[in-house]
Amino acid sequence: DVLYIDNTTVTDIIQHISEKIHDGTVPTPFFLYSMKQFYLNVGKFQNALLELAPMRSHLSYSMKANFNPFLIRKLIEQEKSIMLTTVSGFEVQLALTLGFQPSNIILNGNGKCDWEIQLAIKNGIFINVDSLFDLKQIIQIAERQLLISIEKPYKPIRLLIRVNPSIDPKVHAYNSTGLKTSKFGTSLNQLDLLYETIKDNENIVQLFGFHCHLGSTISDVQVVADCVTALIDVVEDARVRKEFKNIRYLNIGGGLNIDYLKYAQRTSKNELLHTTTPTPSEYIRCFKSLATKLTGIEIIVEPGRWLVANTCILVTSVLGYKQAPERKYIIVDAAMTECIRPALYQAYHHIDTLQPQQYVEHDRDLFDVVGPVCESGDFLGKDRYLPITLIRGQYLGIFDTGAYCATMSSNYNIRPRVAEYALDTDECVKQIRRRESLDDILKTYNLT
Ligand code: LLP
Repeated sequence: DVLYIDNTTVTDIIQHISEKIHDGTVPTPFFLYSMKQFYLNVGKFQNALLELAPMRSHLSYSMKANFNPFLIRKLIEQEKSIMLTTVSGFEVQLALTLGFQPSNIILNGNGKCDWEIQLAIKNGIFINVDSLFDLKQIIQIAERQLLISIEKPYKPIRLLIRVNPSIDPKVHAYNSTGLKTSKFGTSLNQLDLLYETIKDNENIVQLFGFHCHLGSTISDVQVVADCVTALIDVVEDARVRKEFKNIRYLNIGGGLNIDYLKYAQRTSKNELLHTTTPTPSEYIRCFKSLATKLTGIEIIVEPGRWLVANTCILVTSVLGYKQAPERKYIIVDAAMTECIRPALYQAYHHIDTLQPQQYVEHDRDLFDVVGPVCESGDFLGKDRYLPITLIRGQYLGIFDTGAYCATMSSNYNIRPRVAEYALDTDECVKQIRRRESLDDILKTYNLT
């Protein structure tokens, strides 16, 4: 039994890449995506949202999870109405270049530079206001822009306030964003300050709704229900008591986890590895009855990970094997530079050979899978139950690497950012990013 992506074995895909795209050799590591899986995921989330009908809802892809232009272009082709959540000016610029309607783009962020605010205002995209200082900055920049464009009828900026409801999403500390101690959003008791400022400047900014993102890798849907409950109170209060008439959107963020441990039993002796990961449908149902009580409100959800994480494996080659006094290591050519999640969040990514079933249990032993980077934190997996017969050049797949791997990769140790390939629905493999050369990396430095 071998590893398949859609109907093609990974081994065949590597063969194809080596013959058609390269001259017989395949430089590893590289990311390999399945477009079919990507479309399936998008379709599943869209279908789950339909359960909210007749309440209107919008799927907004969080492009920080993966901004490969090929994937995003395909996403627009697939779902014309899809929205996009961005977190930097360059993400906005790429979204506009790829053909997103400005009215479908949201700029989020707890710190925005002047040029990023200007870009958002100029294009009329939604802005998530994080705090009072953020709001004041937006208004100040808009006033300046207003002065130099008096001839145009001025359209007030559409704002959503990011609320921090102080709810624990029960995930790794670095993935929690809605705690009392988090740097994101405005706490419930400080909202009045923002309301006053918006009221005082209603010819410049208008409140279109609220936003909240509790955190990432959420598996407990009850926390999402708690968040929606808190937000409903906020919406009602703002509409009734504060008389904001344009409130139309409730953006409940992203954060739904995927089952990273799906294949774990195969390569780990740790019996505690067990997860319950809700489906998009279960996620939507957890707040449906709460949200649908609101009238005149449209729900926005902005998943990143759920749409892309399981579409990709990172293919890496074994460099060698090493037995230290206390541990056995398999050293591979991928590293924290391509997949930093284990180092940063102790995240689990399944690792296996491309012919997993060929190795029966007594052919396997416990190894740490590590990269060549000069950091003890450079590991891809610990205590993995892998074949003892692996030799240099043999391929391993690091699973579920479609989200927050390519986009978080770095040039540390002057390692190039790696190539990316996509298996399209027509069974064709396309190179969707080439590997960087030394010249690419040095291009921005002054070498003289
Ligand atoms: N909306 C906002 C405002 C966000 O900050 C994020 C992610 C999302 C939506 C999408 O969350 P998702 O559905 O992808 O979980 N590097 C970390 C994840 C950081 C997430 C940052 N914000 C990781 O690799 O686990």
